[in-house]
Amino acid sequence: MNIRHTPETLTIRPPILYFGTPVVLITTCNEDGSANITPMSSAWALADRVVVGLSGGGQGLVNLLRERECVLNFAADSMHAAVERLAPTSGRDPVPTWKHEAGYRHEADKFALAGFHALPSIKVTAPRIAECPLQLESRVTHHADRPLDDWRGNAGGFAIIELEVLHVHAHADIVVPGTQHIDPTHYSPLFYVFRHYVGRGKTLGKTFKAQV
Ligand SMILES: Cc1cc2nc3c(=O)[nH]c(=O)nc-3n(C[C@H](O)[C@H](O)[C@H](O)COP(=O)(O)O)c2cc1C
Repeated sequence: MNIRHTPETLTIRPPILYFGTPVVLITTCNEDGSANITPMSSAWALADRVVVGLSGGGQGLVNLLRERECVLNFAADSMHAAVERLAPTSGRDPVPTWKHEAGYRHEADKFALAGFHALPSIKVTAPRIAECPLQLESRVTHHADRPLDDWRGNAGGFAIIELEVLHVHAHADIVVPGTQHIDPTHYSPLFYVFRHYVGRGKTLGKTFKAQV
C-alpha cells in the first residue's frame, strides 16, 4: 500500500465490538416442554462444529446446559422485523434485574410474538423455525464459563459453547439442485453489524476451494 494513501485512523473505545455476524435464532426446550427462541449472533463454524457465545442470565443458556441440545436457525434478511420483536424479551421469568433495567421483559411464547411456525426436529427435541432458510440440529459437546467481573455488574459473564451439528435442513430454494451445496447467490442471511440489521450485498466472487 502506498503510504500516502493510508486511511487516517482514530483511537476509539466502542461500547461493543459486534463486527458483523449472522443472526441465529437458537431454539431450546424449557423445563415444562415449551419452546424458547434466543436471538444471537456471536457464532462461528469450523468442520461440523459451531461455537456460540451466550451471556449469563438468559433462558436459552439455561435450557442448553440442561437439555444439551438445540436448533440453530439462521434468519433470512427479510426476517429483521420479526427478530426485532423478539429482541427486548427473555424466556426467563423473572427477568434478571440488570436486564429488566435495560428494557427487557418476559415473553413465554416467542413463536407467537415473532409470527414463526414450529416444525418438529429429527434428532433433537427442540423445534425448528420453519421460516428460517437454514436449520441446524445440534448437541452440546463442550462448554466453558467465562466469568467477567467488570461486565454488566458481574451479571454472570458469558459461556462459550461448542455444538456438534447433527442434521442440516435447508430450504430447497437455497440448495444447488441435485447437490449437497448451499447456493450463496440464493441464500440471504441477516447480519448483525454494530447493533444494526444488514442484508447481503451482491456476490463478489468465490474462493479457490468453492465446489460450485
Ligand atoms: C440480533 C441479536 C443478536 C444477539 N446476540 C447475542 C449473542 O450473541 N449472545 C447473547 O448472549 N445474547 C445476544 N443477544 C441478546 C439475547 O437475545 C437476549 O439476551 C435475550 O434476552 C435472550 O433470550 P433468552 O433469555 O430467552 O434466552 C442478541 C440479541 C439480538 C436481537
